[in-house]
Amino acid sequence: MTTLSMSAAAPRCFAVGSRAQSGGTRKATTAGRTARVSRARGASLIARAAFTPAGAKIAGVGMAVPTQYLTNDDLSELVDTNDEWIRTRTGIGKRHVISGDESLTSLAAEASKKALAAAGVAAEDLDLILLSTSSPDDLFGSACTVQAAIGATGALAVDLTAACSGFVVGVVNGVHFIRGGEYKNVLVVGADVLSRYVDWRDRGTCILFGDGCGAMVLTSTPDPSDCCLLGFDMHSDGAGNHNLTAQFAYEAGTDTAGKSKPTAEGGDAPSSRGAFCNIGMNGQEVFKFAVKTVPDTVSKSLEKAGMTSEDIDFLVMHQANQRIIDTAAKRFGLGPEKVVSNIAKYGNTSAGSVPIAMAEAVEEGRIKKGDVVATAGFGAGLTWASAILRW
Ligand code: ACO
Repeated sequence: MTTLSMSAAAPRCFAVGSRAQSGGTRKATTAGRTARVSRARGASLIARAAFTPAGAKIAGVGMAVPTQYLTNDDLSELVDTNDEWIRTRTGIGKRHVISGDESLTSLAAEASKKALAAAGVAAEDLDLILLSTSSPDDLFGSACTVQAAIGATGALAVDLTAACSGFVVGVVNGVHFIRGGEYKNVLVVGADVLSRYVDWRDRGTCILFGDGCGAMVLTSTPDPSDCCLLGFDMHSDGAGNHNLTAQFAYEAGTDTAGKSKPTAEGGDAPSSRGAFCNIGMNGQEVFKFAVKTVPDTVSKSLEKAGMTSEDIDFLVMHQANQRIIDTAAKRFGLGPEKVVSNIAKYGNTSAGSVPIAMAEAVEEGRIKKGDVVATAGFGAGLTWASAILRW
C-alpha cells in the first residue's frame, strides 16, 4: 500500500574506476594501481552508501503558543471590525501573539521538548531537525538555535520555507530521510510568529494571523513496509506569488538593487538598509485557490495511498479559515467528528497550524494509534501539499 520505494542500491557513479587497466608497461602498471585504488575507494563508498531501508513511524507530537492573546473585541479597538464579522467570515475568536522574552526559537523549543517527551526520545539522539518557518528569529535560520535550546547536539538542523504548507513538506522530507536508512530520529517543527509582519492597521489581514508552534518526532522501525506516510502530493505555483507576500524592500535613496552608490565626494554612501514589508494578501484569490487545491491534493494523496475518503479517520488541515475547512470536509463527506479544527482559539498560525491541531487532537484522545489522518497545507508561494498518515 505504501507509495514510497526508496532504493538502497548504491549510486552507479561510485562504480567509476572498477574496470582495471591491464598491460606490461610501467605506465600501464601505474594505471592499474590507480584503478585498484579507485576501485577500493569506490567499494568503501558503496559500503557506506548502502544504507538499510527502514520503516518510519510518528512517535510523538507537542505544541506551544505564546501566553498573550488578542480577542476579536481587542482588535475592534484597533481597526473597524467586530467579533460577529470575524467569527462568521473566518471562525476565529482569538489569536496568540509573542511578547516579552518569547520568540520563534522559544516556542519551537517548548513544543519540541514536549514532542520528544511524548516520543520517549532523548534530544541528543536526534539526527535531524527540520524547522518549517517563514518567520525565523534570524535571517540565516533558527533551526540551529532550536537545536541548541533543546540540546540536540548530534543533529543537523536546517530551516525549510514553504509558508503554511511547510509542516506537511517537512514531514514528507523527514520520513524520506528515515526511509533511506541513514537517520533514525527526525524532529519536524512547524513554527511561525507572523505577528511580527502583520500590519495591525489592516483589517483584511490582522484578524487572521496568530503565533504558534507544533512539533513531531519521527523514528525508524526495522520493517521498511511499516511506514506512517501512506501517500503524499506537493505543489508550487510561483505565478500566484503576488497574492500573498511579505517582501523585502530597500530604503529610499539606494539603487534598485539596494547597493550603496559612491557619493559626489568620492566616498561611499551609508550602507543601504531595508526591511521586510507587512503581509500583503488578496484574500479572495487565496480563498479561491485554497478551496480548489486542498480537496484536489488530498484526493491525489488518497489515490496514491490506494484509499478513498471513507478511509479517513481525521482531516487535519491548515487552519486558515473555517469556511475553507468546511468546504474540504464537505467534499469528502466528513462530519465534524472527523474534522480537527482549533482555529477559533489560535487563528492562522501558518506552518504551526497543522502540528498544533494534531498535538491537541492527540492530547484530547481523539487521534489514536492506527488512525488514518489526512493532512494538508496551503499558502504563500503559492504552495500546497497533502499527506495521508497512519498514526
Ligand atoms: N471586519 C469587517 N469588515 C471587513 C473586514 C473585517 N475584518 N475585512 C474585510 N471587511 C469587509 C470588506 O471591506 C468588504 O466590504 P465591502 O463589501 O463594503 O467592500 C467585505 O467585508 C467583504 O470583504 P471580502 O474581502 O470579500 O471578505 P471575505 O469574505 O473574502 O473574507 C478573508 C476575507 C477572511 C480574508 C477571506 O478572503 C479569506 O479567508 N481568505 C483566505 C485567506 C487565507 O487562507 N490565507 C492563507 C494564508 S496562509 C499563509 O501562507 C501565510
